[in-house]
Amino acid sequence: MPPCRSHWSSRLGFVMAAAGSAVGLGNIWKFPYVAGQNGGGAFVLIYLAAIVLVGIPIMMAEFLLGRASQRDAIGTFRHLSGRRSLWCLVGWAGVGAAFILFSFYAVVAGWSLDYLFKTLSGQLDGCSPQQITQTFRGLLASPGQMIGWQAVFVTLAAAIVFRGVRGGIERCNKILMPGLFLLLLYLFVHGLLSGGASRAVHFLFFPDFSRLTPQMVLEAVGHAFFTLSLGAGVMITYGSYLDEKADLFNLTLKISLLDTLVALMAGLAIFPVVFSAGLDPAAGPGLVFQTLPVVFGTLPMGRLLMLFFFLLLAFAALSSAISMLEVPVAWLVDEKQWSRRKATTSLTVAAFILGLPSALSFNRLSAWTIVGNLTFFDFCDKLISSWMLPLGGLAVAVYCGWFFRASHQAKKALLCASSDRAFDYWSLLIRYVAPVAVALVFIHQIGLF
Ligand code: TRP
Repeated sequence: MPPCRSHWSSRLGFVMAAAGSAVGLGNIWKFPYVAGQNGGGAFVLIYLAAIVLVGIPIMMAEFLLGRASQRDAIGTFRHLSGRRSLWCLVGWAGVGAAFILFSFYAVVAGWSLDYLFKTLSGQLDGCSPQQITQTFRGLLASPGQMIGWQAVFVTLAAAIVFRGVRGGIERCNKILMPGLFLLLLYLFVHGLLSGGASRAVHFLFFPDFSRLTPQMVLEAVGHAFFTLSLGAGVMITYGSYLDEKADLFNLTLKISLLDTLVALMAGLAIFPVVFSAGLDPAAGPGLVFQTLPVVFGTLPMGRLLMLFFFLLLAFAALSSAISMLEVPVAWLVDEKQWSRRKATTSLTVAAFILGLPSALSFNRLSAWTIVGNLTFFDFCDKLISSWMLPLGGLAVAVYCGWFFRASHQAKKALLCASSDRAFDYWSLLIRYVAPVAVALVFIHQIGLF
């Protein structure tokens, strides 16, 4: 085992950190707009099914592997399957995916910092919908602003990862997560009390099956991976900071429940305002940035609510971004014996540079397309969200279910499954259901059916 490896100071600290990773832009920014674009209820139903049947078992597998090896994502496969094994590629892909993800996630996270600043300085006060749309377009058109906020964001993330597992990641999540939850609760109650609540509930929870298409199933499964931070070695790395006695079964259920709850609450905070103001639920990536300021502008204490909202978004993004950065940092620290300082600084600078063409995709480089008509940003997002994360998750499921050489009993002990039946369900899901579901998604993606 690598010498003096640090561990979480408590189970709660671990749950907060893993939930902090899972709860992010995916829940508050992406979930509402993707659900909106896909017609609501039917998408939500498939997404929930994907969480239970695919997401939760794979998260358990990632924790199990990380804890069994007590190493970073690459070291885990090396240790468990041998130095020469092809499975090490899965670790490499995870580290690469986490790094690329960090580079472009910081661009969108920068938008939330920009809006936080605009709200504080009163620039969004009393704006008409057209003006708000102009503001959002103005931000996207300004490379200086975008890159400035991206730089602020990666610096914040680096400052936390710098301080290590306990002093940085765990401590900051223990503040960010409850803060986030309280803010969201406030907005959620506010949403439910507003005029559009019943339409929002109807939109999100009453499926219209005519909207069910293979493309939508694909997006729902892909989103389940993204929102639970699977397939990029994050949960392997976080699991490696756990001690032997933790009950992974129980902890995973708590983490995924928190994540799902936050996504649904975000939907129920956002859609009532969207409907009561007669806005379009299918507005796309600009949904929270373009629609909410309009609505907040008309509410009593709107500015305060708006401030809360963008603070929430920034918190959520930060706790996710640190988990992405931790994956390559842990690799350099564990395998290459770099100091945490050196690893964090170099990776942050490198990710910032890689993020520049992503930020410029919205302005200077908007005409530069990589494949098809994807800009650099869209390409990175597609590469990671639609390919690398599901592929990484599939590989973890197949490895853990079929190739990880441990007896039934040993696996059971590693998971600390509380009952035989629970363990049997997990085995079934990880060996058959999850791989088949993800493989079908891929086969469809490649266009074979
Ligand atoms: N889960 C986060 C969100 O919803 C994003 C995220 C963080 C992530 N770490 C990850 C996604 C690792 C995939 C892999 O915003």
